[in-house]
Amino acid sequence: MDIKTCNIIYCSPTHNSRDIALAAGSALGSEPRTIDLTRDLSDSVIAIPADEVAVIAVPVYAGRVAPFALGRLRRLRGDATPAILVVTYGNRDYEDALVELHDAMTSQGFVTVAAGAFVGEHSYSRPGMPIGEGRPDSEDVAVARRFGDRAASKLASAESVHEAAVAYVKGNRPYRSVSTPTPTAPHTLDGCVLCGTCADVCPTYAVRVTATGVETDKNLCVKCCACVKECPQKVRIFDTPYTEMLHKNFSSPREPELFF
Ligand SMILES: Cc1cc2nc3c(=O)[nH]c(=O)nc-3n(C[C@H](O)[C@H](O)[C@H](O)COP(=O)(O)O)c2cc1C
Repeated sequence: MDIKTCNIIYCSPTHNSRDIALAAGSALGSEPRTIDLTRDLSDSVIAIPADEVAVIAVPVYAGRVAPFALGRLRRLRGDATPAILVVTYGNRDYEDALVELHDAMTSQGFVTVAAGAFVGEHSYSRPGMPIGEGRPDSEDVAVARRFGDRAASKLASAESVHEAAVAYVKGNRPYRSVSTPTPTAPHTLDGCVLCGTCADVCPTYAVRVTATGVETDKNLCVKCCACVKECPQKVRIFDTPYTEMLHKNFSSPREPELFF
């Protein structure tokens, strides 16, 4: 199969999924089209034709595809379009997220030719209590490039997209059930200079900076911690008991898992 264009599509508040998608996509053509859905609230259809390929990457929340990311991806339409699927997770587990992404993209007209679960620094990781700190690292990025390379070779040697389809993607159906999250959000300590970075990076537009402070809508916040990681003054904090629990129990590094 000849592929004309590679589309690198991601929803990635803290950039782990983006970085893996860019590395995987680099093997699939020299001038990829990049579609960043992280803060894109539009609902117009994005159609990807059969002679192109889509690398699609999203984060894992509670062992499933982050719900807001799944919502963003609903705009995508394939036409038996080959897709390379990526989830990134914070070194605990990705459980049913990859198979959920595979099912969703299949129902929207894509054919999965490769799928991978990669480790990214956990959203709740913080100095002194790291969880997957520094991931994806250079080795993860190298694995992602080889992953993209292998998917490209598979497509090049296949007569049809269906011949290149994955045999298996890890995960259970029905997917694990997730309880409705309690509305909570990061808060801002003294020392905030009202620069607005927290509002500018929030994927759900939950943060508002006024003349006197930072207001966060707890019902909109998805706890991605983009605002925490990008605060130039380091005064944005998300206090959760999960940080210590994850740091204690999931420190042993996990490796990427790939399916072809
Ligand atoms: C609400 C929430 C739930 C999460 N659940 C999981 C999980 O079940 N397993 C895991 O290993 N990491 C989990 N993480 C960590 C993210 O999957 C990880 O940091 C991911 O790489 C973030 O992707 P991004 O940088 O593209 O936004 C969770 C993060 C958040 C904010």
